[in-house]
Amino acid sequence: MSVLSFFTWCENSSLAEAIRQSRWLFPAIESVHLLGLAVIGGAVLVLNLRLLGLGIKRQPAAQLWRDTRPWLLGSLAVMLISGGLLFTSEAVKLYYHEAFWVKMISLLLATVFTFTVLRKVALADPSHVRPLWCKAAATASILLWSMVGIGGRWIGFS
Ligand code: HEM
Repeated sequence: MSVLSFFTWCENSSLAEAIRQSRWLFPAIESVHLLGLAVIGGAVLVLNLRLLGLGIKRQPAAQLWRDTRPWLLGSLAVMLISGGLLFTSEAVKLYYHEAFWVKMISLLLATVFTFTVLRKVALADPSHVRPLWCKAAATASILLWSMVGIGGRWIGFS
């Protein structure tokens, strides 16, 4: 099955049809998508501002990683489910849309980076990790997650 035929199969599904036929389902799902965006944005910013030496300075980065991780995972699940539903309703349009592929590649890179490099830097003993590495990792993380959001908005604009 090619990627295009899979996208076509998704768009022709009865679920996708129901979302397209409904006047309120797509905006309702997109509202959940935006609420998830607010939570994931908050979780990403709290930790990255700390690694940049800003934000909640009283808390060690390792503690903030542990506190924000459930929110990050929970909101990521909400984004994947709500995004997946939105995707089915207009899958073939998204197949031909570079913004969708920029968003999906950025989402993959942002997620892998967060649970590998950023996690390692956040959990490292502060006396063993140079502040420059913390700032570089936080800056890369903010840029990657911003690309996901920009990709999402870019889809809506076109
Ligand atoms: C953390 C992950 C994600 C973030 C931060 C994100 C962000 C966004 C943003 C900012 C919008 C624009 C909302 C608006 O202003 O109207 C959007 C829309 C959308 N997203 Fe996501 N998204 C994520 C995951 C996903 C996933 C996994 C998919 C699909 C597999 C997806 C599919 C869509 C679609 C189809 C739209 C609607 C575009 C339209 O208006 O036609 N998103 N997303």
